[in-house]
Amino acid sequence: MAVTLLDRVSAEAATATTAAPSPRDLVDVTLTVNGRDHHLKLDNRTTLLDALREHMALTGSKKGCDHGQCGACTVLADGQRVLSCLTLAVVAQGRKVTTIEGLAGADGELHPMQQAFIDHDAFQCGYCTPGQILSAVACVHEGHANDADEVREYMSGNLCRCAAYPNIVDAVLDAKPKMKEA
Ligand code: FES
Ligand code: FES
Repeated sequence: MAVTLLDRVSAEAATATTAAPSPRDLVDVTLTVNGRDHHLKLDNRTTLLDALREHMALTGSKKGCDHGQCGACTVLADGQRVLSCLTLAVVAQGRKVTTIEGLAGADGELHPMQQAFIDHDAFQCGYCTPGQILSAVACVHEGHANDADEVREYMSGNLCRCAAYPNIVDAVLDAKPKMKEA
């Protein structure tokens, strides 16, 4: 029986359909988090936040809005603050990710920003605190912590439902010179 053009097109379409990767296919992803490589198999739509929380048991990064609006999921990638709820895990490959679990020294000594948040009572429920602290560390490194107004402006992406803002500003200003010493 002769093969019609329609048969050929149908066969090619069927082959293309089976060959095309599904978004549900798991992909190999290696993430470097807090100095350690994690080899994972993830749906390529997995966010960095979900990868951290659900595949690495690093639950310090919080899911507040999951829409890039609250800052609770803030982590550092190569020292820059990123919203992990808006970052695909596959895109974070090759970058050094730091979460709140990796901020203290190897000997357990708290980072100056962590200590300053304690000293200034810069939290109440604590839900926003990991994101606030990582954002604050980056804020200082960016050179955006020269006075209270500047800290308020450059920390404005991190919301605090408990309204601990005055103490957060005090903590950032206190930690800044100590970070230079550290
Ligand atoms: S959870 Fe990412 S910005 Fe709110
Ligand atoms: S300390 Fe409760 S949301 Fe900030």
